[in-house]
This record gives sequence, structure tokens and C-alpha cells, in this order.
Amino acid sequence: MELTGPAEVRAALRDVEYLADDRISQVVYLAEQLGKPILVEGPAGVGKTELAKALSTIFDRRLIRLQCYEGLDESKAIYEWNYKKQLLRIQAGGEEAWGSLEEDIFSDEFLLARPLLEGILSEQPVVLLIDEIDRVEVETEALLLEVLSDFQVSIPELGTMAARTQPLVLLTSNNTRELSEALKRRCLFLHIGYPTVEREQEILLARVDGLTEMLGEQVARVVSSIRDLDLKKAPSVSESIDWARTLLALGIDRVDSDVLDETLHVLLKYQADIDTARRELVEA
Ligand SMILES: Nc1ncnc2c1ncn2[C@@H]1O[C@H](COP(=O)(O)OP(=O)(O)O)[C@@H](O)[C@H]1O
Ligand SMILES: [Mg+2]
Repeated sequence: MELTGPAEVRAALRDVEYLADDRISQVVYLAEQLGKPILVEGPAGVGKTELAKALSTIFDRRLIRLQCYEGLDESKAIYEWNYKKQLLRIQAGGEEAWGSLEEDIFSDEFLLARPLLEGILSEQPVVLLIDEIDRVEVETEALLLEVLSDFQVSIPELGTMAARTQPLVLLTSNNTRELSEALKRRCLFLHIGYPTVEREQEILLARVDGLTEMLGEQVARVVSSIRDLDLKKAPSVSESIDWARTLLALGIDRVDSDVLDETLHVLLKYQADIDTARRELVEA
């Protein structure tokens, strides 16, 4: 799809039930125009991963996702050799001269492309999501950065593999540690925070079947005032969606302090937070 400006990005995202604000649509538009990766940062559950999925749908590109975790290394992020298959080939080789066998087993056929290489080798442009990059060690981050800077991977035995098409790259971070300056320099920065009451109401209406406008607005308002409290973990958009679904499942069509008291545990995951909210909002 050709998009002519941020407003169109926003409308296209809305069509796939992703409610963006002006900043999100502007950064997406610029990333597409400038061919730069987007670094999406913000608390858990505010729609970072979902943005990548929505972009893959509106641009009609396959989504390739690298879920980061502590200990993730090159062999899981970029590529590795299929040792098992290589061994079998060597065993089957028998008399063959070692030289030609070596050439043979370090060929495409024995290469396992992991998400980054897969994205680079794709004939059709993809959306490449590197999710929760703050979970990998700094060294691994540098390695990923190298691939993203040149859109190429060097494999000693095979040579350099350059991107056939330019992927749209999104990196997300929950901010558990600082990312490197080098990475930030490469990317367009996008902070996604908790939505406004209006945007959250729209998200709820898009994502929760059977929700009325009135209940959607109440949920968004109450959640927003809960986020203003001093909590260990503020409720995210996923939790307000869960809460709205809970209310519907219980046949509740308006929120009062009894309802809040009975269902707070769907929104808050620490007893201390539940106590705080009860004190400030239910008993007040
Ligand atoms: N802007 C949005 N529009 C529509 N749904 C949203 C939006 N933001 C969050 N959501 C909902 O919240 C859920 C959690 O979002 P997710 O992308 O997994 O959060 P994150 O990756 O930031 O932790 C999604 O599955 C989606 O249903
Ligand atoms: Mg996520």
C-alpha cells in the first residue's frame, strides 16, 4: 500500500483495529519514507508488539519476529549450521575426498536461517520485529545492530549475503536497561505511553465485542485514574481489555464501587496495589 502521509497511516491502522495517535502514525510514515528502523519503547502492554503485527497487515508484508531473551545468541538470531544434517552427510560421504565434502556441507542446503537472515533473504519485503531487545546482552545487541546497519550478513564459509529487499524493521524495548547510543542513532525513536481516555475507549470498543460506548468510557476513565495512583505496576491496555471482558462476562453494564471492589484483581497484580486502589477509589 502507498501511504501519502501520517493521517493515512492512522486511517489504515484503524482499519485493522489498531488505534494510533499522531506521534505513532507520524513515526511509522517517516520510517517507511526514510527506510529507517523504529525503536519502540514504553511500558508492557501498550501496543508495541501489536503495532508490528498491524503494520505487517496494512503493508501486506510477512511478519518475521525475533523474540529476544537473556542468552539469545547469533545462532538463534541470525543463522546456524545444521550439524545433524552435516554429520549424516559426512557419514554417507564415505570415500569422498574431505575437500569436496567440506565444500558440500557448508552450502545453502545445510544452513538454518534464523529470523534476521530470513528477513534479509526474503524475496518479498517483510516486517522484521525484534521484540524486547532490552533483554539481550549488550554484545548481542551490537551483533544485531551490525546486521541492521548494512542489511547484510557475512557467513565465513559462504560470503556476504545482502538484503534482496528492504525490510521494515521494528525494535521494541520495555526499558529494563539502557540501549546503546549506536542503536538509538540508527533508529527513529517512538515512545508509546498509556493512551488518553479517548484513545483507550476506542481501543476497547475495537477489541472487545459487545462493549457499549458507555461502559467503554467508564472503563477507560477508571483505569486512567488508577494509573494516577502510586502503584508498583500500573494496569496496561491489555489489562483494561481483560477488565472490560470480565465485566461483560459477569453481565455488568456499569461500574460502581462494589463492582470495582469485586474485580480489581483483574486490573492489578500486586496485593499492595489492590489495597491502595481500594483505599483511594472504593472507600473514598
Ligand atoms: N493502540 C492499540 N490499538 C489496538 N489494540 C491495542 C493498542 N494498544 C494495545 N492494544 C491491545 O493491547 C494488547 C497488548 O499489546 P502488546 O502489543 O502485546 O503490548 P506490548 O508489546 O507493548 O507489551 C494487544 O493485544 C491489543 O489487544
Ligand atoms: Mg510486546
